[in-house]
Amino acid sequence: MSHSITIIMYLHPNLAWAITGAGHHLIESFDAFKRVKEENPEIRITIFASQSAEEVLRMYGLFDELKTIAGGDYLEEVFLESEQGRSSPKVGRFLLNKYDALFVTPATSNTVAKIVHGIADSLPTNAVAQAVKGDVPVYIVPVDIEGTIRSKMPYTIDREVCARHHCDICTPAIVCPNGAIDSQIDLLKCDGCGKCAPTCPHGAIRGGYAELKVRDVDMRNTAELAELAGIEVLMNPVDVVSVVSGM
Ligand SMILES: Cc1cc2nc3c(=O)[nH]c(=O)nc-3n(C[C@H](O)[C@H](O)[C@H](O)COP(=O)(O)O)c2cc1C
Repeated sequence: MSHSITIIMYLHPNLAWAITGAGHHLIESFDAFKRVKEENPEIRITIFASQSAEEVLRMYGLFDELKTIAGGDYLEEVFLESEQGRSSPKVGRFLLNKYDALFVTPATSNTVAKIVHGIADSLPTNAVAQAVKGDVPVYIVPVDIEGTIRSKMPYTIDREVCARHHCDICTPAIVCPNGAIDSQIDLLKCDGCGKCAPTCPHGAIRGGYAELKVRDVDMRNTAELAELAGIEVLMNPVDVVSVVSGM
């Protein structure tokens, strides 16, 4: 008599998330991956951030939050372009079957243009190049699709409002934990915490929204991106959640 043993394995995908330096869709991209992680903590997510992404993530107060998605263990690292060298050796993982999918969200017009023209000179563009070569599905959320976009901007000081008042003591500069304010906000020091804004008695500090026109060249590049083999364009970061739940 022969016995057969059935082993049921529940496999969880390993995901790679490349972040570029776009403010548009940045919070939504973070929220999408946070949701993926909360809905299925077994899924491992590695983050690959361009140098601009690192800066913009800090400006929006999200940089330190990345560890809630990628805790630091193997296949859950946060790789920063600023620490990875020019040849991006870590993206070799895409040729070693370590990842089930690569998501690039948000994808700047800069990164989209590079991908469309086969350029790989940053961490996210190298990740895309190796993922396609390694037959790993790539999903990209471009920020510039068509028409106009409404984008959340980092905190800035309206210097005309500021100049009208000549305050002896600038409370926002005092409360800023990063020393980022000295008549204007140094966005490379600002971490987007927003503590400054309510302390200005003249409302000179704002982190509002702006309407931006999508350039023709970016529209064309996004359309070409959708034609590339191995790459699927997603229209919104929240689409990441449904792609992952279908894996
Ligand atoms: C606060 C801030 C927000 C930005 N948002 C966008 C954006 O929404 N879309 C975009 O294409 N570039 C945006 N940029 C410009 C990119 O960061 C810049 O083009 C950079 O070189 C892109 O590099 P990467 O594609 O390697 O990440 C932003 C820059 C800053 C400082």
